[in-house]
Amino acid sequence: MNVVILAAGQGKRMHSDLPKVLHRLAGRPLLAHVLDCARALGPARIAVVYGYGGEAVREAIGDATLAWVKQEPQLGTGHALQQALPALAQSAHTLVLYGDVPLTRAETLRELIGAAADGMALLTVALDDPSGYGRIVREGGAVKRIVEEKDASPAERAIREVNTGIMALPTKRLAGWLSSLRNDNAQREYYLTDIVALAVKEGVPVRAVQPGAPWETLGVNSKGQLAELERAHQRLVAGRLLEAGVSLADPARIDVRGRLECGRDVAIDVNCVFEGDVALGDRVSVGAHCVLRNVRIDADTRIEPFCHLEESSIGQRCRVGPYARFRPGVRLAEDVHIGNFVEVKASEIGAGSKANHLSYIGDTTIGRKVNVGAGTITCNYDGANKHRTVIEDDVFIGSDTQLVAPVRVGRGATLGAGTTLTEDAPPGRLTISRVRQFSIAAWRRPEKKK
Ligand code: UD1
Ligand code: CA
Repeated sequence: MNVVILAAGQGKRMHSDLPKVLHRLAGRPLLAHVLDCARALGPARIAVVYGYGGEAVREAIGDATLAWVKQEPQLGTGHALQQALPALAQSAHTLVLYGDVPLTRAETLRELIGAAADGMALLTVALDDPSGYGRIVREGGAVKRIVEEKDASPAERAIREVNTGIMALPTKRLAGWLSSLRNDNAQREYYLTDIVALAVKEGVPVRAVQPGAPWETLGVNSKGQLAELERAHQRLVAGRLLEAGVSLADPARIDVRGRLECGRDVAIDVNCVFEGDVALGDRVSVGAHCVLRNVRIDADTRIEPFCHLEESSIGQRCRVGPYARFRPGVRLAEDVHIGNFVEVKASEIGAGSKANHLSYIGDTTIGRKVNVGAGTITCNYDGANKHRTVIEDDVFIGSDTQLVAPVRVGRGATLGAGTTLTEDAPPGRLTISRVRQFSIAAWRRPEKKK
């Protein structure tokens, strides 16, 4: 089988400089969703017909195994498919998909391809409001032709069965059919849909197949439709999570933009966004309003509300947040507590350690059972280079301490509150850098001058 994805149109109604097929659904370009579906069918060739926005589409997808076919100017869907013909295997069928129809299921397409075995097959749906679509004209039940709305008679416009555009076609016959298309119609375009009448005339069987769900064939022509499809997709994802036993506080208030894998008895509160690959272990709970991107969280860990965590891995029984921020490269061992307004970046933190309030921990290795006091800052950047901080096991760091990296705090050391550490602190001792407290008896507050 060949797959041809038509993606040359501009999408004027998006009112955007971005080519339509690069607008995002669930965090990925529309075209990427169509490609996923196409690949799932295991075709011999996938050709993408692109045009508007030119190389931007090609570069954004960045897949050199695809046959990229430029269509310029864009003279209609029939013309578009014709441009792709040289890239196709002649002996196989050709499945036509659309770069702006992102949610079609592979199983629906398998059924369509099956129905086209000795001819061609169209994916059609019956709509209460068919306006804008090509209508399926039948005689005695058999499909005879497709008429575009702009060319249809009032009687034809009353037909509710419409062309979704998706079809499976015998490739060998396409060259003949497509070269005999004419553009003497309302839109002065070469309509792919006109090949249906040609097939019927030649006695080639034309079958119609319906999708399992209505959203499978919905296309994106406007921001409104894109938003609707996004919701349809998210409802579907939420439904699958619930079915797998995940507790969602509100299935209408979760967004998964990538892959979310959950263990048993996972609970997710409202308004969480999951991006990239996220894995939540057994009994993990995620509080309201969290954003997790490419994160792995092990069993029994609790993420409190309002956390923003990316490119990190978190061990078992940790407690993170509320209001914690992890930038890329954070690794927490088990039983770690990271509290509010703590930012962590490129750091490993050992089992049982805590940083509960208002800190920046960057490029740091922290051992086991370390207590990082409120307001502690690792000064990892000297204005030109980044340096590492090492804090060994059982260290206690007093509040409002600055560790000017590169620096090491030895095992069991204590740093007095307010210390600015510029040299290594020896193990087991109290290190402190502070002027000794004193009071001036003769001091008076200044008074306002008359
Ligand atoms: C097309 C069908 C119509 C069907 C509808 C479903 C034709 C003639 N009509 O109409 O029967 O009901 O889709 O949505 O096929 N494209 C190109 N190159 C072109 C023209 C279009 O790549 O020269 C691509 C567009 O990017 C778009 C798709 O083909 O993704 C459909 O084109 P569009 O012009 O929107 O066709 P419709 O008028 O919607
Ligand atoms: Ca369209």
